[in-house]
Amino acid sequence: MEALSSSFLSSISQSKRSVIVSKPFSSPSPSSSTRGLNIKAVRTEGEPQTAINSSPASTTPSAVRKSPKTKIPQPPSPVPHPTSRAQPKTTTSPPKRVPVKSNKPQTTPSVQPSVPSTLLNAVEDVINTFIDPPTKPSVDPRFALSDNFAPVDELPPTECEVIEGVLPSCLDGVYIRNGPNPQFLPRGPYHLFDGDGMLHSIRISNGKATLCSRYVKTYKYMTEREAGTSVFPNVFSGFNGLVGSAARGSLAAARFIAGQFNLDNGSGVANTSLAYFSNRLYALGESDLPYEVRLTPNGDIETIGRTDFDGKLFMSMTAHPKIDPDTGEAFAFRSGPIPPFLTYFRFDSKGNKQADVPIFSKLQPSFLHDFAITNKYAIFPDIQIGMDPMEMILRGGSPVGFDPGKVSRVGIIPRYAKDDKDMTWFEVPGYNIIHATNAWDEVDNNGNETIVMVAPNILSAEHTLERMDLVHALIEKVRINLNTGVVSRQPLSARNLDFAVINPAFVAKENRYVYAAIGEPMPKIVGVVKLDLSVAQHRRECTVASRIYGPGCYGGEPFFVARDPDDPNADEDDGYLMSYVHNENTGESRFIVMDAKSPSLDIVASVKLPQRVPYGFHGLFRCIPCYLQGWSNRRMLKV
Ligand SMILES: [Fe+2]
Repeated sequence: MEALSSSFLSSISQSKRSVIVSKPFSSPSPSSSTRGLNIKAVRTEGEPQTAINSSPASTTPSAVRKSPKTKIPQPPSPVPHPTSRAQPKTTTSPPKRVPVKSNKPQTTPSVQPSVPSTLLNAVEDVINTFIDPPTKPSVDPRFALSDNFAPVDELPPTECEVIEGVLPSCLDGVYIRNGPNPQFLPRGPYHLFDGDGMLHSIRISNGKATLCSRYVKTYKYMTEREAGTSVFPNVFSGFNGLVGSAARGSLAAARFIAGQFNLDNGSGVANTSLAYFSNRLYALGESDLPYEVRLTPNGDIETIGRTDFDGKLFMSMTAHPKIDPDTGEAFAFRSGPIPPFLTYFRFDSKGNKQADVPIFSKLQPSFLHDFAITNKYAIFPDIQIGMDPMEMILRGGSPVGFDPGKVSRVGIIPRYAKDDKDMTWFEVPGYNIIHATNAWDEVDNNGNETIVMVAPNILSAEHTLERMDLVHALIEKVRINLNTGVVSRQPLSARNLDFAVINPAFVAKENRYVYAAIGEPMPKIVGVVKLDLSVAQHRRECTVASRIYGPGCYGGEPFFVARDPDDPNADEDDGYLMSYVHNENTGESRFIVMDAKSPSLDIVASVKLPQRVPYGFHGLFRCIPCYLQGWSNRRMLKV
């Protein structure tokens, strides 16, 4: 989700070409927006089930527990920390947040900044205090890092207590989830997408669980750890208006000249997702190259290095590559604000990067975070959310701006294309997807080819970056007839759903079940639903099972793990859903495993975690034997 940090930095350093200017970001008042959107009217929530974090031994209802009042470490600047009770100077009503339990990152070395660094930090404090203070809640650390968004310390492998149920014996592997966790508390503006990537893994073996939390040791992380202070600008939050952008741009240039960092080594935070292909595991952020990581035999997480796949991968790669479960190939792309705005590529089953396929028919940059593949095609959305650094710099708007005059499109290209001559675009008005859940090919009796795609469509795309609490996403099934060009669409649920996943064995193939996180509001996740796509033919709500985590409890993206991945006759939904869940009333985090087949997604095991796991983005599960094969002899770039 760190859509354009290094791409943006590269664009202002390498190109003076103007980018297409989309419409200014519109952020209506909360009241008017809420009336217009009427989220409550379309929500069909079930009754909450037992609170996830209600300890069996406790007699105190979790709903009435007091929030823990652990102090958050004081940032070295006039910017108040998240526990401050002072009201922020905001232009809109901020989302309600409660004080947070935070752990000071003990991994931060007690390094005394150099004299030049101290001077530049002083300049930055002047900018943060007098020139461009964080006035919007979306970039105010007091809100952006409140509750369970606050960072935690690294945690070495630590055994956990299974407090409910039993971890299934067939689960022998590791669940790892990525997410933002800033190494240093920000002295100025901070957006959720700006934080350094931290991996939270829970290794499961013989019914026992071991938690480990480690930073991805990116060039940015290592540089700032050595400097003892933040050095890189926060791209999503640090450039507001001409004066503020000029000031921070000048400061970044001064830091570069002073030798504090080198952009040749990337500036990404690798905080978005993980991908496993060709026996290697990668931590990904779409603004930089992948970072290869591995699990050690004792359950620890190590960063192996930043990789350009032997010089064949340039600049960056999507955080959502698609891995074909049958062939082992990985399909990916990079997108940015300078032409070509989209470049498609793939890796063979051995992880060898194949030639780039620049898509020249994409004439404007747009926010392109995810895509889909079928057995024959790759499908790219071209949505109404544009990537516009100049809008951010000159008008103080968002780098991701909504263009109401643009007609959304879907581009379809053969997945083994050598160039973009067979790329075909289909207009799909109002189709603004950030994530794609799955897609497949269908052929009717007349030989007509149809692409079917399932994805959450953001109805209120103008709020994507600054007011995620106003975002409402409907999961839709879209059919595109490649012969006639006819596009048909069908919502599958009225709920606000995103972070939707499937059984990974069905990627690129027709599948029946989707598991999605319930936003209430986004980015907080109150529960999970199971959709049965076969119900869609009857034009009914496709939800067939759900679980609400309980008062004050919030989870994340679910992940589906098959009970027996080697059984070709197993039901598609024969397996488990897993997620981290945090109870804001108690300050405790848990890892839960749910039975994906049961009508209420029954919890089969709940693991109390020795340390809080902050809210994050995407994760995966791998069996341990596969995972340990991920030792790399590939050339790694300097970090
Ligand atoms: Fe994502």
